[in-house]
Amino acid sequence: MVYPALTLLSLSWLALAAGTTASRCSPGAKRPNFVVIMTDDQDKLLNSVDYQPAVQKHFVEQGTTFDKHFCTMSQCCPSRVSYLTGRTGHNTNITDVAPPHGGYTKFISEGLNDNYAPVWMQEAGYNTYYTGKLMNRHSTRTYNDPYPKGFNQTNFLIEPNVYVYYNATYQRNQDLPYYLPGRYSTDVLAETAVEFLEHAASDMENRPFFINIMPVGPHFEKVVPVEPGQSIAGTVLYPPVPAKRHEHLFPNATPGESSYLKDLPRLNETVVDYLDHYYRRRLQALAAVDELVDDVFAKLDELDLLDNTYVIYTTDNGYHIGNHRMNAGKTTCYEEDVNIPMYFRGPGVAKGKTIHYPTTHTDLVPTIFELAGIPLRPEFDGAPMPVTKEIPQKKYEHVNIEFWGVNLEEGEYSSAIRLIGTGYDLMYVTWCTNEHELYDMKTDAAQMHNLHSSQGYLFGYPISKVLTRLNGLMMVLKSCKGQDCIYPWSVTHPEGDVRTIRDAMDPRFDQFYEEEMPVVVFDKCVRGYFTELEGPQVPAVFGGASSGKRSLD
Ligand SMILES: *[C@@H]1O[C@H](CO)[C@@H](O)[C@H](O)[C@H]1NC(C)=O
Ligand SMILES: *[C@@H]1O[C@H](CO)[C@@H](O)[C@H](O)[C@H]1NC(C)=O
Ligand SMILES: *[C@@H]1O[C@H](CO)[C@@H](O)[C@H](O)[C@H]1NC(C)=O
Ligand SMILES: *[C@@H]1O[C@H](CO)[C@@H](O)[C@H](O)[C@H]1NC(C)=O
Repeated sequence: MVYPALTLLSLSWLALAAGTTASRCSPGAKRPNFVVIMTDDQDKLLNSVDYQPAVQKHFVEQGTTFDKHFCTMSQCCPSRVSYLTGRTGHNTNITDVAPPHGGYTKFISEGLNDNYAPVWMQEAGYNTYYTGKLMNRHSTRTYNDPYPKGFNQTNFLIEPNVYVYYNATYQRNQDLPYYLPGRYSTDVLAETAVEFLEHAASDMENRPFFINIMPVGPHFEKVVPVEPGQSIAGTVLYPPVPAKRHEHLFPNATPGESSYLKDLPRLNETVVDYLDHYYRRRLQALAAVDELVDDVFAKLDELDLLDNTYVIYTTDNGYHIGNHRMNAGKTTCYEEDVNIPMYFRGPGVAKGKTIHYPTTHTDLVPTIFELAGIPLRPEFDGAPMPVTKEIPQKKYEHVNIEFWGVNLEEGEYSSAIRLIGTGYDLMYVTWCTNEHELYDMKTDAAQMHNLHSSQGYLFGYPISKVLTRLNGLMMVLKSCKGQDCIYPWSVTHPEGDVRTIRDAMDPRFDQFYEEEMPVVVFDKCVRGYFTELEGPQVPAVFGGASSGKRSLD
């Protein structure tokens, strides 16, 4: 078995207006509400959102699309924890879906139950609600050991039947878990969401609200043996199950319409037919999510709350079907798995606009804080997204996405950079075997031609020189904390004269990057975050006493 780990980073040098005036909420101003809708395993690049008319109507047309939004890790538990904490995987140390390196029990043992968004929002005066899946291993055994903190009301989807669409396990507030055979889980969540909105609206005089709605669609159906002592090997996976009323939808849709597939060798007909079926079942399962979206907006409208509520639509991680000769799945560092849907709508958010500025899930809670007028926490590894004109559009150079985990199909990879700027759009990977890949996403969006050993040029510089800077940046980002994750160049260039990779390409830094900067290496492919297996930990600093090759000893 292979235990890969990935750090994926994205950078931007988009010319954003600097110095926009910030207008913070004045004390006493009516604070906004927040509704976050997060699906499970929804792709962006296989065009699933094109099949969701309510998402198109309420978000694409009425809100802003963040086209270059990335998950922090392409796996649900680590990605969800990064969203809820505003921190990257190497700082939450939730690097897997199950113990010992992930899951609800690890979330508890890391102390994160006292230190995440609902707790902070409640302390800041919000009423907080959650319906749907929280994270893996939140189950009939763990749900009260302890209860998730920080919520006024909850209706969780928990294990074992979290992914059984027509007989899911629910756990409400402090009540015992129960099953609802015959009820479709996304529909149950839609009802709870509407009920929570009504409850929240009744207390609006005192407290604004923060509601999370987390349906499992379009995740596959997973039937787990529940008899004590039965082996997990009895687990059976099926394509996602749509609501019965949606089973007939999209009979001709195929993932083959995606340009990402066109250069691939054809899989055999049996496999292609199965993947087409699988793809349609995902779209059909998303149809109920789409109705949920409609229900939420209808209720917000009825309660006259649309003018003071931000609504976010996204997913936990992306998904591939047939891409890169792989079947169906997630967890890779390739674009389908990490570039995900992200829409923002609310007061001051531009309508029908698309922003190509790279952002990640670690930016979401900082964004909510900024909009709510809550001071940002120093441990945040992300920064507010430019969602309204009130937010100063700081020149924000990168996002940091990571992954450690089991990737059954793809082999061993470790650490990657996505780099998006004027004149270039790159993806760079260091595998935990210390192999590398480099793609020019402008000319090779399907990531088919590895340029790592090429003699060519990128944005006017020899690839060999660009690679030394990418290595330096990866040295910072793979173990950064807080502000250093947001402004990585200021770690290697404390004088502040380097803010982009272009600045770092200056020939006067050649020797520094070629000879002084440690090289990112991994000693072993493992599933958890063990700094002692991740090579040199401290990046070199240009100039000054701290310059030179250093290691953690
Ligand atoms: C991360 O957690 C694992 C246990 O899952 C622990 O062994 C490891 O030391 C932790 N890493 C860091 C850097 O704290
Ligand atoms: C929600 O919980 C907070 C913290 O316990 C509490 O102060 C607030 O009154 C609660 N809101 C409602 C509507 O019960
Ligand atoms: C629902 O799931 C529970 C737990 O797996 C099981 O005991 C029960 O028989 C199921 N009900 C139906 C109608 O399938
Ligand atoms: C198609 O490919 C799959 C997976 O490689 C294989 O199991 C199956 O036997 C193949 N079917 C045919 C008809 O060749």
